Amino acid sequence: MGVRRIGLLTAGGDCPGLNALIRAVVLAALERRWDVLGIEDATHGLVDLEYHRPLGNHWLTLDDVEDILARGGTILGTSNKSDPFHYVVERDGQRVEMDVSDRVMENYRALGLDGMVWVGGDGSMRIADRMADKGMQVVGVPKTIDLDLGGTDYTFGFHTAVETITAAVDRLQDTAESHDRVMIVEVMGRNAGFLALHGALAGGAHICLIPEVPYRIEPILAKIRDRCRAGLPYSIAIVAEGAAPAGGEPSYAGPRALGEMPKLLGAGARLAAALEPHLDLDTRVTVLGHVQRGGSPNQFDRILATRFGVAAVEAIERGDFRKMVSLRTPDIVTVPIADAIAKPRRVERESTLLHAARSVGIEIGE
Ligand code: F6P
Repeated sequence: MGVRRIGLLTAGGDCPGLNALIRAVVLAALERRWDVLGIEDATHGLVDLEYHRPLGNHWLTLDDVEDILARGGTILGTSNKSDPFHYVVERDGQRVEMDVSDRVMENYRALGLDGMVWVGGDGSMRIADRMADKGMQVVGVPKTIDLDLGGTDYTFGFHTAVETITAAVDRLQDTAESHDRVMIVEVMGRNAGFLALHGALAGGAHICLIPEVPYRIEPILAKIRDRCRAGLPYSIAIVAEGAAPAGGEPSYAGPRALGEMPKLLGAGARLAAALEPHLDLDTRVTVLGHVQRGGSPNQFDRILATRFGVAAVEAIERGDFRKMVSLRTPDIVTVPIADAIAKPRRVERESTLLHAARSVGIEIGE
């Protein structure tokens, strides 16, 4: 029997383009006379079918997606605390983790879904793949501003976030130059430095520190001093939140809470504290934080999300399950989810991206 109804969920941190993706899935599915059940808040709506925060799972209509193409966020809600294999519940007044994946499967079957579009990053694709082990007919869609997921040239959300960083760096250049200051910009990038490096290239930053390259203070000081000697007594440093000094650890906001990733914060402040005693220039730190996750998607992300949405529906139609839609420029293809998550995607030391940064004089603290 053909497909009649599919589920759609958005998981992990949000990013610009999720609504464009939802719209494309709904339009392509309705065209085929399929029904699309929007699952609320990632897998929370599948663990508990009565989950309402505030909408609950609901069948998506043309009206629901009419004006969402340009909107940031996700109308379905999302969560990065909804891993069904490590689901946090209250037991005897204590928060404990338990495996509720079988309950998710029962609910999936009870809903009569013929397939599930599972939108997420690296962690979410791992969960989707484990649900496929249990029999769920999953098609993955990659999204992350960090670009730390393999198997695709780009994820949607990334380019809009780079634009946000670039706009901030442009503004900071003005005020850095006026005041003769070192401006440090802390950007997202837990394990991967793609956002920081692209932001540095697009914004013309002078220093860029990424998680893949443990940094030393000396070359950074040398860069700032060289610029001063050249009559440029100001500098812009972009620091990924996950960057750490050689021999040190990333800077955490506090201990990890149950079921959550440890929060990263302070990489920029730590760099400022390390530089200041050695400089005659003032330093200031700007933490861009979740500003990078919001906002209207740019045209690249809208188009990519739309193409991914259509491709996901087509994959379900073909029965091409346990695959992730992927951009292999200029084509949209599908790749096994297992291949996409096999190796974490990171900035390679010998990449042309890093080569370009070094070649235009961006100091990476090696
Ligand atoms: O989407 C990934 C990411 O942007 C990381 O760079 C960052 O560490 C994390 O999300 C923060 O997520 P949240 O504050 O929403 O838990």
